[in-house]
Amino acid sequence: MNLIFLGPPGAGKGTQAQRLCWDFGMAQISTGDLLRSHIAKKTAIGIEADKYINEGNLVPDDLIIGMIREELAYAEKTGFLLDGFPRTVPQAIELDNMITSMGIKIDAVLVLEVPGDELVARLTARRTCPTCGKSYHLIFNPPAKEGKCDIEGSDLFQRKDDNEETVTKRQQIYENQTKPIINYYKGKNLAHTINGVGKMDKIYSSIKTLLNEAVKN
Ligand code: AP5
Repeated sequence: MNLIFLGPPGAGKGTQAQRLCWDFGMAQISTGDLLRSHIAKKTAIGIEADKYINEGNLVPDDLIIGMIREELAYAEKTGFLLDGFPRTVPQAIELDNMITSMGIKIDAVLVLEVPGDELVARLTARRTCPTCGKSYHLIFNPPAKEGKCDIEGSDLFQRKDDNEETVTKRQQIYENQTKPIINYYKGKNLAHTINGVGKMDKIYSSIKTLLNEAVKN
């Protein structure tokens, strides 16, 4: 299966994507994680991307598209879940060009919906494992041992772009630049909306039910 996850910052894309990829053996391609890894390694991409991410802006399309092209080639055999890409209409069009030339297709686009006030509460209390990327929430999904990843035991960290001011800016950018992609995929009969509010397990079950139906059709 080849899937796309859309939704505002904090909607739970990474949380649900990681579980889906573990269960179905797809590759999780998260542009946010890839960029953070480039930043940590101080690559040319990382140095360029850092300033955009810290201010809550989108990284330029050409830089993102070059990075994704390489990842798709690796993930072609297992199938993939795109988490955080595409984020602009030009990125969506370029993705179509890439998959057409590879002779593959997108099976479904999952759109997680969560209201704005809940998103701020989720992101300002998010903590992430630097080793496996698993994300926690101090109240809704705390680690078993305070400050440590349940899987890796690593010290959890808070992302620099998870402060209230930057989160609000990221939400505005989602509304203006990323939301139009939903109509783009509605036009292709691929978009499926999921209520992202409630227990994580219940949301995961809804996603699985929806995918079973989408793949059958
Ligand atoms: P990225 O890392 O992709 O961030 P994002 O899209 O803003 O999404 P998040 O990772 O913040 O949220 P999420 O939906 O994955 O939520 P999560 O599951 O962690 O991108 C960062 C930056 O990189 C961008 O701002 C941009 O600068 C750049 N970038 C990336 N891709 C780009 C692209 N394609 N083009 C240009 N620039 C790009 O959950 C959030 C919290 O909520 C966690 O604490 C979690 O435990 C909790 N939670 C999850 N589900 C629930 C639930 N049901 N109930 C309660 N809490 C929940």
